[in-house]
Amino acid sequence: MEIIELRRRFLEFFEQKGYQKVGPSSLIPQNDASVLFTTAGMQQFKDFYSSPDLSPSPKLTTVQPVIRTSDISEVGDDTHLTSFEMLGNFRFGEKDSFEMKKIAITEAWEFINNTLGVPASRVYATVFKDDGWGVSDDEESEKIWRELGVEVKKAGKEDNFWGPTGEEGPCGPTTEIYIDGVEVWNLVFNQYYKKVTTAETAGIAGSTEAGEYVALTQQGLDTGSGLERLAATLQGKKSVWEIEPFATWVHYTDPTMPRQSRIIIDHLRAIIFIVSAGILPGNKGREYILRRLIRKAVFLVDQLSVSFAWDDAIKHMSAYYRDFYQICDDEETLDVIFNEKAQFEKNIIKAKHYLEKWLQQNVSPSSEEITKLAFYMYESFGFPKELVIEHLSSLSYTVDNEYFSNLFLEHQKISRSGMEGQFKGGLVDHSEQTIKHHTAHHLLLAALRQVLGKNVVQKGSNVSSERLRIDFNFDRKLTEEELKEIEEIVNQKIKEDLPVEHKEMPKEEALSLGAQAEFGAKYGDVVSVYSIGDFSLELCGGPHVDRTGQLGRFEILKEEASSQGVRRIKAKLYN
Ligand code: SER
Repeated sequence: MEIIELRRRFLEFFEQKGYQKVGPSSLIPQNDASVLFTTAGMQQFKDFYSSPDLSPSPKLTTVQPVIRTSDISEVGDDTHLTSFEMLGNFRFGEKDSFEMKKIAITEAWEFINNTLGVPASRVYATVFKDDGWGVSDDEESEKIWRELGVEVKKAGKEDNFWGPTGEEGPCGPTTEIYIDGVEVWNLVFNQYYKKVTTAETAGIAGSTEAGEYVALTQQGLDTGSGLERLAATLQGKKSVWEIEPFATWVHYTDPTMPRQSRIIIDHLRAIIFIVSAGILPGNKGREYILRRLIRKAVFLVDQLSVSFAWDDAIKHMSAYYRDFYQICDDEETLDVIFNEKAQFEKNIIKAKHYLEKWLQQNVSPSSEEITKLAFYMYESFGFPKELVIEHLSSLSYTVDNEYFSNLFLEHQKISRSGMEGQFKGGLVDHSEQTIKHHTAHHLLLAALRQVLGKNVVQKGSNVSSERLRIDFNFDRKLTEEELKEIEEIVNQKIKEDLPVEHKEMPKEEALSLGAQAEFGAKYGDVVSVYSIGDFSLELCGGPHVDRTGQLGRFEILKEEASSQGVRRIKAKLYN
């Protein structure tokens, strides 16, 4: 059964069972700061487990794209993907654990056995067995499966207990369904609430867990099945790369280099989902994950022996998902990917030259020297750490991980001292146009504060030679008039040809002068500050132009929501 058909049948099946179909949530969790990306279908419903009344229905079903980066080094093998679609059905406010399990297991079995036509001989289920830390065997699930005539195996906490996602929260035993020995579906019974206690008062005798597992009166069900893996199993293939559309996509690359090709397609797919969620490449958090995925794909494409049609691949992959998810492949989205790609391609060329020369000059380098080289490539050419390590190891050199981490920490200390400034993080490069956009960025922030009020602070930024972007706190869309006024103020300040001046001073002094600092950024005791006439004062590491007269004409391209309470403006200078 094809992926699209399977997705449709799953939702249809659970809708017929009275589950309300809910659309997928954003890949950026809205109510859970403990994860960067949505990693499971239940994420958007987390609050419903403790407050069932919040749910539009006591029974929901979804297909949710998720991003999981924990196994990213395994991607390229038969089973791991950076992003996948998760089929799920959910129940809240359940009172009786046996009843809940009976319904959940029977429905899952009906879908597998009747709808998908998989006989019991190809299936077994695992259930939770007490492995000595206090929660007793899940005899209920075992009984239900046996009555259905399905083989049962037992496993402990590691395999058959789920959650909580943070330190505290709903959690419980799971039952996993295997077809032909492949795990295809995980049914989680949120029967307990884990409460953190001190080790001495831990409520469970003999438990090494500093916590108490309190039985919930409001219980819940959370199931998850990886759509691609289930489809591959049903098609009798051991890998998603052997089924459509993955098999076709991988042929866009280089069939003689299967592992690299799989990683390129896997990453490109995740990139499309992440960019569509409104993320731009950057140096922190999810922005960095996106950057790393793009750079790794670019690096691997560079190694292929054939040319890779990025445009075609992106267009085809986006079109495949567009009917089901909000996917962007407009010019602007493509630009995000292509800007980062172009930038990194230049760095790959520089890095290759550098590496070649270095290896000629250092005939048998020590591990310390190789590690310093790796760090230099990371720092100067923007190679993600894993990429440098992998590349050097393909040339038979070993990087000392611990020493690399020490170099990294040392480097961070220097950056944090303020001498290098924090702003560099937001600059894609130090080209002339990027530097001009950087100065215009300061003018824009000052103009925003003048027009919208002094409560406005910067929440994020990204500056490249193509354009500048600022995120700031504000709770509504800006009017046409406001945007025009802001644009005019910036252009006026450019016309005034104001001097841009750099100073270093104690942080306290800078803040008391009213210097703007990005919200949430960390600064050292001595900070670097840039002023533009009397108009703008910001904590910043530069670089900037000397006078605003050098900037050209400033234009706002777009104003949009970035996240709850945060707006985003993209702007550009024209010469
Ligand atoms: N939350 C569980 C999982 O991710 C089941 O959906 O496996």
